[in-house]
Amino acid sequence: MIFEVLSVFPQVFEPYLSESILGRAWQRSLFEFVAHDLRTWTHDRHSTVDDAPFGGGQGMLMKCEPIFEAVRDISGQGKKRPHVIFFSPCGRRYSEKDAERLSSFDRILFVCGRYEGIDERAYALADEIVSVGDYVLTGGELAALVVIDSVVRLLPGVLGDDRSAKDESFSQGLLEYAQYTRPATFQGERVPEVLLSGDHGAVSAWRRRSSIERTARWRPDLLEGAELSEDEWSLVHETLGQRDCEATDV
Ligand code: ADE
Repeated sequence: MIFEVLSVFPQVFEPYLSESILGRAWQRSLFEFVAHDLRTWTHDRHSTVDDAPFGGGQGMLMKCEPIFEAVRDISGQGKKRPHVIFFSPCGRRYSEKDAERLSSFDRILFVCGRYEGIDERAYALADEIVSVGDYVLTGGELAALVVIDSVVRLLPGVLGDDRSAKDESFSQGLLEYAQYTRPATFQGERVPEVLLSGDHGAVSAWRRRSSIERTARWRPDLLEGAELSEDEWSLVHETLGQRDCEATDV
């Protein structure tokens, strides 16, 4: 899989992508990455990529000509046209489901906006417009890294154990279960005994229960339409009841 970015700050990606799990995956060619400098597609002395908005207003907008030229040229390179993603807080909210969907593309080009936004006409080039959350970043570069990170970790061979991505929060529509490591007792708090028991069946059952409890406590919105047994729904209602009592206690 190849990720390409189009940005006026093409140098910001490499340091993050070179570290840790992503760095090892990149070194092992489990994905490819190319950063394109948008200024390559400008034709004036100052390599201008922005201009003032028609109708007045604060700040500068990214011009559409360099973006159109760049996306056309980049798309024409290579065997396959890329899936083109633009970033904007106005886009559709990104989730783990999107990461799973995007992990099956061979080639993705991320167009990273800066300044106050992009000339609206440039969005005609987008196969999709993505927001990473309801807040405003200074540019799309961090959003691109968020998406690349979340997709790369789903690619075969990237995480040591292929099960680890499947166990994660959101992958089953639930948050991940609570986890503990040594010491078994810390500041008087003991980890749940079942996790020390060596009984794999009991550990699995405890983890399922923990996932449901944590989801009910922290992200009950995720439970809408969840496929749970009758006992599991009872656990959800019990946890929600406790949560509401705690909320009124404070
Ligand atoms: N650019 C600025 N803010 C953004 C956001 N929340 N998501 C994606 N791109 C952005």
